[in-house]
Amino acid sequence: MPVITNIEDLRVLAEKRVPRMFYDYADSGSWTEGTYRANSEDFQKIKLRQRVAVNMENRTTATKMVGQDVKMPVCIAPVGLTGMQSADGEIKAAKAAEKFGIPFTLSTMSICSIEDIAQNTTAPFWFQLYMMRDRESMARMIERARVAKCSALVLTLDLQVIGQRHKDLKNGLTAPPKPTIANIINLMTKPRWCLGMAGTKRHSFGNLVGHVKAVTDMKSLASWTNEQFDPTLSWADVAWVKAQWGGKLILKGIMDVEDAKLAVASGADAIVVSNHGGRQLDGAPSSIEALPAIVAAVGDQIEVWMDGGIRSGQDVLKAWALGARGTMIGRAMVYGLGAMGEEGVLKALQIIHKELDVTMAFCGHTDIRNVDTGILLPGTFPTA
Ligand code: GLV
Repeated sequence: MPVITNIEDLRVLAEKRVPRMFYDYADSGSWTEGTYRANSEDFQKIKLRQRVAVNMENRTTATKMVGQDVKMPVCIAPVGLTGMQSADGEIKAAKAAEKFGIPFTLSTMSICSIEDIAQNTTAPFWFQLYMMRDRESMARMIERARVAKCSALVLTLDLQVIGQRHKDLKNGLTAPPKPTIANIINLMTKPRWCLGMAGTKRHSFGNLVGHVKAVTDMKSLASWTNEQFDPTLSWADVAWVKAQWGGKLILKGIMDVEDAKLAVASGADAIVVSNHGGRQLDGAPSSIEALPAIVAAVGDQIEVWMDGGIRSGQDVLKAWALGARGTMIGRAMVYGLGAMGEEGVLKALQIIHKELDVTMAFCGHTDIRNVDTGILLPGTFPTA
């Protein structure tokens, strides 16, 4: 067993243990993957100011996201097909998040259902919603989230249509995988994964099967998206969701100042500056590059968070310094899960926390709430 000391170690292990099509699904962006790469590369360009001879005792990274206590300004991002990275993956990730002390967000396109998560955890979790054509199904899904005592709803605004990820088409991505020769050969090299899957019935989209009107091909994310997601989504629909839900509402997928202002006007509680992990508009700037202008425009009126490219606690610290009051991690969680299940997700969170905590100290701070752009070297970070 290799010694795991960073998120890259988990990625390498996940690549070995997870069937090709699911590893590729997570580790890819749309078209040229330029935006996907920029998300993490742009973090590397930002330089931190080292300070010395500052008392580094009694540090804390604790804060609040939409009024909820978090051990660090991080939550688990909604990731489709998480239960294909490891058997019952969403339950494992939610348990790890609860143990660590941050919120877990369940994707609409998850394998485990809202009810599965509610039955297997005690901390309130968040539910991510895609706007679908069938409003009755939407209303029922929002009601299920309420019954499950979800403490916030995350509405994703940037996936009315889906960006093309070449590998998913080439791999013939479905959940569960079709029994083709290529898939069987690949699965034979993943005994740990197969054993896990043999021990659970959760093999397809648990939130949708039996809940949403049948589509011709339930198993493929792309066909589901094309048939069910609502390409006419508007701000009036956001108002409809807000009224149906009545609780904390987080709008995900904001990359433009004009949209950020509209989000504030909608009465949402938080926005996530996000290009969907570089999986939608290829050619969009990285999330960390888009963040400062949005913070400058609306940061005093709404909680601004970000996601995309975070692979370390240093990245979380830089996002915080640039005004993000929360971050979401998707792939770092997925790599932990694919590598080592629940333990791997916990490991990913511990790694990020330690990096965040120690790096904050090197920058001369003991409480993350006091950290601002002062920790960044002028000229190395994006500005409004
Ligand atoms: C869906 O959310 C995806 O990005 O695949």
